[in-house]
Order: sequence, then C-alpha cells, then structure tokens
Amino acid sequence: MPTPTIAALILAAGKGTRMHSAKPKVLQTMLGEPMLRHVYNALAPRFGSEAFTVVGHGAELVERAFPEMAARFVIQGEQLGTGHALQAAWETINTAGAAYCLVINGDTPLVSAEALDRLLAQAGCCDIAFMSITPRDPAGFGRVVRDENRRVAAIVEAKDYSVAEHGPATGEVNAGIYLLRAASVGPLLGRLGNDNRSGEYYITDLIGLAVADGLTVEGVQCGDDVSLMGINSPRELIRAESALRRRIVEAHIDRGVLIHNPETVIIGPGVVIEPGAEIFGHCEIYGASTVAAGARLGSYTHITNASFAPGCVVREFCHIEGTEVGPDAVVGPYARLRPGTVLRTGARVGNFVEVKKTVLGEGAKASHLTYLGDAEVGAGANIGAGTITCNYDGKNKFTTVIGPGAFIGSNTALVAPVTVGRDALVGAGSTITKDVPDEGGAIARAKQTNISRRLKKS
Ligand code: UD1
Ligand code: CA
Repeated sequence: MPTPTIAALILAAGKGTRMHSAKPKVLQTMLGEPMLRHVYNALAPRFGSEAFTVVGHGAELVERAFPEMAARFVIQGEQLGTGHALQAAWETINTAGAAYCLVINGDTPLVSAEALDRLLAQAGCCDIAFMSITPRDPAGFGRVVRDENRRVAAIVEAKDYSVAEHGPATGEVNAGIYLLRAASVGPLLGRLGNDNRSGEYYITDLIGLAVADGLTVEGVQCGDDVSLMGINSPRELIRAESALRRRIVEAHIDRGVLIHNPETVIIGPGVVIEPGAEIFGHCEIYGASTVAAGARLGSYTHITNASFAPGCVVREFCHIEGTEVGPDAVVGPYARLRPGTVLRTGARVGNFVEVKKTVLGEGAKASHLTYLGDAEVGAGANIGAGTITCNYDGKNKFTTVIGPGAFIGSNTALVAPVTVGRDALVGAGSTITKDVPDEGGAIARAKQTNISRRLKKS
C-alpha cells in the first residue's frame, strides 16, 4: 500500500499568557532561534518548507520573523482554543488534498524528526493518532483516559479532570502532536463545543468524539521523553533551552569535536562543526556558523553567522559576526569582527581591532588598536597600530583601498575615498586625504620643530 499523503499544521496563534511577555510565545528564543524555528527544523526532513502555520496573536511579528513561510500562514482571528485553531485552518489544509494532517503545538520545540516519524508511521492505520508522555510532573497537561482494555477513551484537560468522573489519573498525558485522517475528522470538527472550565474549543475533544463514533484512535506512548514537553512558562523555556544546549554539545563531542569545559559552551542548532575542530569554553556560537576541522576557537568568544577555515585560530575574548575567517588566519585576543569581514589565508587581526565590511588579503596584518571599515587590504599589507579608516562623512560611507605589500605607519587616518598603492609606505601619524601611488611614500603631518627649553635655575 502506498504511504498516504500527509500535510503538516503548526498551531502557533495562542497568546502565551503564562510567559508574561508581550512577544508571541513561538518567537521566544532558544539558543538564539525562535521556538517556531525549532519546530520547522523538526518538520523539514519530511515536509520541507510546506508546513502550514496557524497564527493569530502577534501574527505580523511572526510573519516578519519567517517571511519564507508566510505564504502558508492561516489566520485565526480570535484565539478561542486549539480546536478553533484547527477549524480555522481546516479548509486551507484540505485544499492541498492530503489524506492525513499532522498537527503539532508550536510550543513543543524540542521535538525531533525521529519522534515525529513514530507518529507518522500510524498513517493508514487509524483515524486519529496522538503522542502521549508520562512526565515526572503531569500537572497542566491533558490527561489520557483509557478504558478497561487500555484503549484510549478520551483526553481530558487538567482543569476539567475529576477523579469521580474519570477515575484516578494514570500519569499518561497528551503531548499535543496529532495525526488526523482528514476524511474522518472533518465531520467531527463542527461538533466541538466550548462547555468546559476554559470556555475554549479543545482539539483534544476530537478524541472522545471519534471514540464515540467508533473510529480508531491510537495513543502512541513515548514514556518520559522530555523532548515532547510543551513550553508554557519562562522557567520551562529556560529548562528546555538548557536540555537542548547539553544535547547539542554532547552530540558534537561524540562526533569528534573537542569541546573543553563543555558545560560553558553554547552551540545553536544550525551550527555545523567538523570533527577535529577544537573549542574552549566559555564560547557561544549561533546562527548559520560553520567551523572546519583543525580550527581552534578560544574562550570567551561570541560568534554569530561566521565561518572558520582549517587551521585558523581565534584567541580569547573575541566578538565575531557575519565573518569569513580563512585558513590559518589568527584573530584576537580582544578583536571585534563585524558583518562583511573576510580574512584570507594567514591574515592576522590582533587586539582591540574592529573590522567591518573589509577584506584582508592573504597574510595581511592589523595587529593592534585599529578600525578598518569598508576597506580592501591587499595581500601582505601591514596596518600599523592606531590606524583608522575614516569611512563616514556623516552622510555616506566611502571605501579605502590599501594595495598589496603596503605599509601603513602607526596612528594614521585614511580619509576615504582613498587608495594607498601597492608596496606604498605611509609615515606614522599621517592624515591621508589623497591617493598614494604604487611604491610611493606619503607623509602628512606637521614637521617637528625643536625649540629650546628654558628651565629656571634656582
Ligand atoms: C495543550 C493540550 C493538552 C496537552 C498540551 C501539551 C489542548 C486543549 N490541550 O494544552 O492536552 O497536554 O497542549 O503541551 O489542546 N493555540 C492556537 N490557538 C488558540 C490556542 C492555542 O493556535 O486559540 C496554539 C498555541 O499557540 C500553542 C498550542 O496551540 O502553540 C497549544 O496551546 P496551549 O495553550 O499552550 O495548550 P496547553 O494548555 O499547553
Ligand atoms: Ca502548551
């Protein structure tokens, strides 16, 4: 039998009241990425970027954060509950014509693609399947009620649960991830009511309705898998973030990345590190950063969207963003590399140097106390301590070009737009406003005058 077609839907419209934050809950970040990104990542192997998302509270903010997914956003105008969210999206997902729909709470960011596969394997076998867990503290979750034959009878929300009516709770609760057969569930949707303690339409009421209609319902039991826990409060968010941090760092170590002092290292989920790279804690690496085998990243370094080639060394206390660090390049200690920086093979940037939108050619050096912005520095050029590219006139930015092999003396101001030619030399303390020719020399500072010093003799 061919696998039935499956659509995916994320419920992300809720207010997230329990987070005590104006920000939509799904935009709260874990390891630098919004919760919703983590859910998209888990869906990606199976659904690519085809997942639908129900948005409502702060919809425009969610859209701004995920413009690439917005074509498949469905608006839930009023947030009347998870069942109402499904109703709001039902027509849209069904026009896609899939036989099944995977529905997942947007506040379940630790879920893995492998865990989802366990549920998706139920496609073709039942009308409704959902994932259940048995956490240490089942407090706020929907309780799974089973009959005397251990068959699922209903999910009853914690607020609505009564031992008299539903029997003693077993500890098995609903993880908020469902697989729904469209043809079976469609007719049930209109029967969802809101006669409960929250006055909301619950997606979980579908279970009881399906059982009453003689449909097949399967609860896929996943034990105490913490990766299936929903996040409702700041404390749960921070706890989940710590768990994910540990999981990612340990996975890198197991693959051969040498991470010293690992409990102080944070690595985002999108970071790619080759076995044989070496990282010293404390260190934070976020975004789409890549670290090659043989690269060494020193302690107290903060990195976002940067790439590190084999053999490069980042010494301690650096801040690096949007930068390519080439093979055998050396950075820091105490360097700040801003977006658009490229360090070619063997280039060096030393302490208290800030670099922005600048390419340093092979073996070029800026070793101390310098600002290079909107500049091209040729291979082997040497930038003396205290050199500043004056790239901004208050309105516009201009480029500085420094030729290969040029030598810029200490404490030089290069007033852009300006070019210093190949193998040219600029004397220390110069303010350069005119181009310097290839192999030329320039000095632009007041001449020293020695005057006599009359010291009073007593
Ligand atoms: C839900 C389940 C509960 C389960 C738990 C698992 C219901 C009624 N209860 O409870 O059985 O144990 O998840 O974590 O579903 N949302 C909307 N529109 C709305 C309301 C919510 O899109 O009108 C979204 C939220 O953004 C969130 C998700 O649905 O991502 C779940 O909502 P939430 O309020 O967190 O449900 P729980 O109370 O955790
Ligand atoms: Ca929740």
